[in-house]
Amino acid sequence: RRHLLTLEELSLAELDQIHATAASFKKILTRSVKKVPALRGKTIVNLFLEPSTRTRMAFDMAAKRLSADTISLDAKSSSTTKGESLRDTAQNIEALQADMIVVRHSAPGSPLYLSKILGIPVINAGDGAHEHPTQGLLDTFTMRERLGSLKGRRVVILGDILYSRVARSNIQALKTFGADVTLVGPSTLVPKHLEALGVTVSHDLRSALADAEVVMLLRIQHERQNAGMFPSIGEYTSMFGLNQQRAAWLHPNAIIMHPGPINRGVEIDSELADGPRSVILDQVTNGIAVRMAVLYLCAGGQPEYVTPTG
Ligand code: CP
Repeated sequence: RRHLLTLEELSLAELDQIHATAASFKKILTRSVKKVPALRGKTIVNLFLEPSTRTRMAFDMAAKRLSADTISLDAKSSSTTKGESLRDTAQNIEALQADMIVVRHSAPGSPLYLSKILGIPVINAGDGAHEHPTQGLLDTFTMRERLGSLKGRRVVILGDILYSRVARSNIQALKTFGADVTLVGPSTLVPKHLEALGVTVSHDLRSALADAEVVMLLRIQHERQNAGMFPSIGEYTSMFGLNQQRAAWLHPNAIIMHPGPINRGVEIDSELADGPRSVILDQVTNGIAVRMAVLYLCAGGQPEYVTPTG
């Protein structure tokens, strides 16, 4: 039994294994070949107690492409609305003979907790402001497709990082791959103490973007902030929003990433989000193959043989 709870605990060899397995699934599956029989007979439950479009659909598609049966449960239609606890909900899902559970929850550490009380693999699909491991895996997979080795690559993460589980998972994976990571934004959203994560913190957008090969925009998360936020949305956009003029500071071959959902005109202008340097929809598509790899490996499938790349 294997879980995926955080990228902090994965070695370079394990990240390579997941990416290599995802690459082989991506190669096998085409518009005409939609399924492989790898998880035939297994039932995977997607328990999403926070909203999601991309992650939930990609996990569902990934499971179906592995020939597993899937059931999705969300906060509104589950008995959590009647006060049933996460523990009872999850134990009932296991009693209903699910083989694996994919969980999104607002409480950091909830997938870890479930991994200790359940006898089936638990996959973290985002736990509060802690981690979003499959997002970090698909983002670094997309970077490697475009750039090759990430060792020494200049990656900038720009936006609401203090509250971002996407940033945390990306930072963990990028450090393991040897990338040079800079976090940028206002000091209220990107405080200096984040340097404890082993990255550089900057509040100077121009110098941070200079020659960066990847810029990853993050959404301002109104739902995790208190009222009276500084800077306001308008102030944020004027100081840190990515527009054509600021994108010109990047490396000429730089790629622009965003995990979605996008606040168009806030953290990124539409012409950049939809422009030739954007890989935002490639990230979404890669989310299927990466999640296929995660489900397959957590179910006990044999990884592709790979030579660690660094
Ligand atoms: N990137 C991401 O987690 O998007 P969703 O919240 O729509 O799943």
